[in-house]
Amino acid sequence: MLHKHKFPFWYLSLPVGSAKRMRTFALFLTTMASSFTVCRLHMRGRILSKRYCSSALSSAEKIECKSLHALQVERQDQAEKSVLISCQSRTSEKKFLKFLSKHGDIKKYFFYESYGVYAVVEFASRDSVSSLLESATIPSISQESIVPFKSRLLSIRNLSSVNQQLNRKHLGFLLLGCVEQQILSLTKAYQLTEENSRLRFLVCSLLKDIAAAYFPECTIRPFGSSVNGFGKLGCDLDMFLDLDSISGVCLQPKSGFSLEYQMKRVNSERAITQSVLSVIGECVDQFGPGCAGVQKILNARCPLVRFSHQPSGFQCDLTANNRVAMKSTELLYLYGELDPRVRSLVFTIRSWARSHGITSSIPGAWITNFSLTIMVLFFLQRRGPPIIPTLDHLRDLAGPEDRSMIEGSDCTFVRDFSKIQLQNNTETLEQLLCEFFEFYATFPFSRMSINIRKGKEQNKPEMSPLHIQNPFETSLNVSKNVNSTQLDRFMALCQESSWLLQQNKTSTPNNTPTPWGLATLLLPSQVAGIKSGKKRRREPASERIKSLLESLKKQNQEKTG
Ligand code: GTP
Ligand code: MG
Repeated sequence: MLHKHKFPFWYLSLPVGSAKRMRTFALFLTTMASSFTVCRLHMRGRILSKRYCSSALSSAEKIECKSLHALQVERQDQAEKSVLISCQSRTSEKKFLKFLSKHGDIKKYFFYESYGVYAVVEFASRDSVSSLLESATIPSISQESIVPFKSRLLSIRNLSSVNQQLNRKHLGFLLLGCVEQQILSLTKAYQLTEENSRLRFLVCSLLKDIAAAYFPECTIRPFGSSVNGFGKLGCDLDMFLDLDSISGVCLQPKSGFSLEYQMKRVNSERAITQSVLSVIGECVDQFGPGCAGVQKILNARCPLVRFSHQPSGFQCDLTANNRVAMKSTELLYLYGELDPRVRSLVFTIRSWARSHGITSSIPGAWITNFSLTIMVLFFLQRRGPPIIPTLDHLRDLAGPEDRSMIEGSDCTFVRDFSKIQLQNNTETLEQLLCEFFEFYATFPFSRMSINIRKGKEQNKPEMSPLHIQNPFETSLNVSKNVNSTQLDRFMALCQESSWLLQQNKTSTPNNTPTPWGLATLLLPSQVAGIKSGKKRRREPASERIKSLLESLKKQNQEKTG
């Protein structure tokens, strides 16, 4: 068994496919690959010189022979001048080295991957290590306590992070160009890359290997934002354990014998889902490499196993018997493919909502990304002329091959894009963004329900503050969890954002890094707090954006002044 931190073996733990993880990660791994070559050559040289030290080698090579004692002394000295740093996968190598070299000359460094990316950095002097340690901070952990032991195992934060809402580089994008360009830049910067998407499928496949110990014919497929086209770097990985292919065929024999499996019978589908997920969850917990923090949430409306897959960094939700969600995913994907404005607008609204704490990764009375996406789709159906068709229209275009009934719900819609005729709407993204805020700032939420099946608001069938009809299970409200405080905040922010965009129309972007256009919308707002009767706490993401903007502004002043 290899010890993952003994770096003579570090290269052995590099998974072959990991070079495809993320855009910046590719760069990272190029470095890793080159460091790897250097280290390997270096080690081979050492092994060769040891192996051949008594044979006929040149005198120069013989000089390199070292006693074990000398080798140990040298290694110990190197080790004492070194630090081990856990890096975030999007950390830029250049920035990383620039940051560290403030503490002294770096003699050697290399990266390896093992449950995350790590860097071993050897300084030329021990003083540099002390200086670096002095500049390190204690992690701020709100709910846990920490053992006050400081070591040379460090984590590098904030240079760049996948989960960060915005970073300096991307904010730079947002400060330039018109709102249209800003929206496109935001989408480009944060949408899932091909590499990230591949990694999501790989994790499903690894998990399938575990589940296959019990159910060899099962499949595990991603759904939700990992595949619906609206996923943002850092979004969770929703997985569906599909056991349907195991059910087999139920043939009625015409005559003679028939053989059938004896199978255990259980009260309900839900009970089966719960017991299957319970067992698979246990396996993931006990045997799943890199799977940590496994929680079995079996009494939820949709039972699931939640865990963190450390090598990929994904927060995973594994469900079973969740076919309607697979269909919703397919529908959202289709809408996103029909017109490029759909994806960009959804992306922008989702980022805006997250910046202001309208959505959250913690379950609660917040609007979910799924609900928000449906709200954007509905708005696009309400344009004149509509940008996307209604779900009823998509159902009318469906052929027999598209028919899909799941647990009594009609999930049929056309899947062949070429059958869908779009209307000629030429509105720009800037117009749409502005109109979106106006539309929802004044939407009659108290009386009306959002319905993408009809593409028209309907009378509310029940009194939840926000009613968004589930597209397939039409008697359900996907936003039942949302309370009136959250809805009020959403409406107030729509109002304020609409106003802010109107202000932008009267001014033009200049070359100073002053918040402009979309960037203004991502700044903290006080309006919602005032409207809901409370002073709203500023969200950490918005705080970050604000401080980044301020530091950019300062830098610019320094340059010009
Ligand atoms: P993220 O916030 O980026 O994870 O977006 P997401 O679209 O993946 O949302 P989430 O992880 O909450 O849910 C995954 C998928 O489950 C969604 O895309 C939907 O297909 C489905 N889903 C989520 N919430 C609901 C709901 O309330 N009702 C129904 N029918 N499906 C839901
Ligand atoms: Mg999700």
